[in-house]
Amino acid sequence: MNLPQHVRLVEVGPRDGLQNEKQPIGVADKVRLVDDLSAAGLGYIEVGSFVSPKWVPQMAGSAEVFAQIQQLPGVTYAALAPNLKGFEGALEAGVKEVAVFAAASEAFSQKNINCSISASLQRFVPVLDAAKQNGVRVRGYVSCVLGCPYEGAVPAEQVASVARELFAMGCYEVSLGDTIGTGTAGDTRRLFEVVGHDIPRNKLAGHFHDTYGQALANIYASLLEGISVFDSSVAGLGGCPYAKGASGNVATEDVLYLLNGLGIHTGIDMDRLIQAGARICAVLDKPNGSRVARARLASA
Ligand code: HMG
Ligand code: MG
Repeated sequence: MNLPQHVRLVEVGPRDGLQNEKQPIGVADKVRLVDDLSAAGLGYIEVGSFVSPKWVPQMAGSAEVFAQIQQLPGVTYAALAPNLKGFEGALEAGVKEVAVFAAASEAFSQKNINCSISASLQRFVPVLDAAKQNGVRVRGYVSCVLGCPYEGAVPAEQVASVARELFAMGCYEVSLGDTIGTGTAGDTRRLFEVVGHDIPRNKLAGHFHDTYGQALANIYASLLEGISVFDSSVAGLGGCPYAKGASGNVATEDVLYLLNGLGIHTGIDMDRLIQAGARICAVLDKPNGSRVARARLASA
């Protein structure tokens, strides 16, 4: 088996996990979640979003969260920024890394960010320029890489084309999002074969929502394709407000269990991670979406 020796997990729980929550979540609880995650050894945490509060009200307090988290050395604390206004907000909050997000489907692009794919890419150019001037790193996302809630099947070549543009404009890494979690391991391998043709595989990441229960299989398929960065969400929190019925990202605890079993190093402490997930689930009064966490907590 030719698998990567190290994997980097991008913890998106505080952003992707919480953005869809209807109930108000206090800044203190968000801060506690981020601090719990960094204490568990996560090296990269997506803390929030500088998007329109009319579109995603839950992320409105992201600047306050950034102001209050305990920033550990060596940990990346990132935020989404859909346009220059968002980037400026992030910069003001002291954010050192942002992510821009495009889609491989026109309909999803319209629903999520109110513009076409090509308009979104044009909008990102000044963000990338401003980021460069200010020493901020930019990650790119492509949504709907294995299917769109509005358009259905999405050709891999279309994903590749958007990913190439993001990479060419200066994103150091592009994360491919199965927003609605319908992709299979076979689809995932074919997708990385196509996208990996033009973009080095060490510049690509996988972002799998677990709606159809395929995310761990898709991560394993990605590992076989040489992908070594995966986005995940503690306790499997979340969903996308513009992809109805989509469940959370694959649970970080479950990915860690998979990677530990493969002898792949991440530096994350499972027990502390499970505690972080249990705490936020208690705040939200929600069942834990991680199978590993549920099993461990039940037997504790
Ligand atoms: P728009 O309405 O077309 O924007 O929204 P606009 O430029 O016409 O501005 C309208 C109003 O919004 C103005 O305010 C602006 O100032 C304000 P008004 O004059 O009406 O008072 N505005 C902003 N306010 C705060 N921060 C900003 C900002 N920009 C404009 N950055 C826009 C366009 C992109 C802003 C909007 O559609 C938006 O915020 N969308 C965000 C959607 C979102 O966050 N979706 C979830 C994240 S993506 C995701 O989950 C997928 C991912 O996980 C990968 C995967 O799973 O596939 C990443
Ligand atoms: Mg997502």
